[in-house]
Amino acid sequence: MLNNIVKIRNDEFNELRDIIYKNSAITFMESKKYLLENRLSKRLNELGHKTYKDYINYLKYDKDNKGEMERMINLVTINETYFLRERPQMDHLVKTTLPEMLAAGKKQCRIWSAACSTGEEPYSLAMLMTEAGLYNKMKIEIMATDINSDVVEFAKKGEYRSMSFRGTPEQFTKTYFTPDKTNFLIKPEIKDKVRFNTGNLTGPTIGAQMGKFDVIFCRNVLIYFDAETKTKVVTMFYNALNAPGYLYLGHSENISKLTDKFKVINFGSGLMHTKAK
Ligand SMILES: C[S@@+](CC[C@H](N)C(=O)[O-])C[C@H]1O[C@@H](n2cnc3c(N)ncnc32)[C@H](O)[C@@H]1O
Repeated sequence: MLNNIVKIRNDEFNELRDIIYKNSAITFMESKKYLLENRLSKRLNELGHKTYKDYINYLKYDKDNKGEMERMINLVTINETYFLRERPQMDHLVKTTLPEMLAAGKKQCRIWSAACSTGEEPYSLAMLMTEAGLYNKMKIEIMATDINSDVVEFAKKGEYRSMSFRGTPEQFTKTYFTPDKTNFLIKPEIKDKVRFNTGNLTGPTIGAQMGKFDVIFCRNVLIYFDAETKTKVVTMFYNALNAPGYLYLGHSENISKLTDKFKVINFGSGLMHTKAK
């Protein structure tokens, strides 16, 4: 179907922005109006809605709108990611944090890749830990979640295009993927090491549902939240971490003004936050 861009009026933008915020905590500035138009026009065309007001009414009141809120949220999230993104933090986990845990006598490690998008982050961790022989030394579990059910389904399949490999050493791709026409299929021994699920980081029950972790990766997500939501999410992480516990955030995600609960470790090429014993 031809994708006619449907222009959004200010009042429609404000209403839609509030709906998105309520359901995902993602904040859309006015400067991002075009992004909503680009992402949602096709859906409006498919449904035959001429205006966003019609679509909003459908979202809010139509008895046949089952699953539409989830679908709309899936359309507006930014899912940019790739293998070995911001690698120094991943190396720090493998070369410093996990060896320290082993030296302290820990034989198990639960890791949460929170907001994992299409799965490159948790699979990268599984590959690097395999490479380092860590699975022979401890029981490692990786849970990966994202609010977007489409990216979670994609991640479960483990089929990637070359875009996901920018900067990935060829040897790495050769070892852990099988080429298949234009795709690369992740090998079962890595695929089996990650469990994927949908999950809203700002939902009321996520902390209790996920249980306790030793390590949390939550990178390039807090940037989409306001200060109140960021504080809520990092507090949830604090409570979800064992002590000692380790939190890796994205490079531009500074939480020092929001909480003093964590100790910040600057390891030269990146930061890590610890929950001390
Ligand atoms: C830019 S990607 C980051 C992926 C990966 N962590 C990385 O750094 O490469 C941001 C992800 O956050 C997810 N996200 C946004 N709001 C969320 C929320 N409230 N709960 C869970 N995930 C969310 C989006 O669906 C998207 O996949």
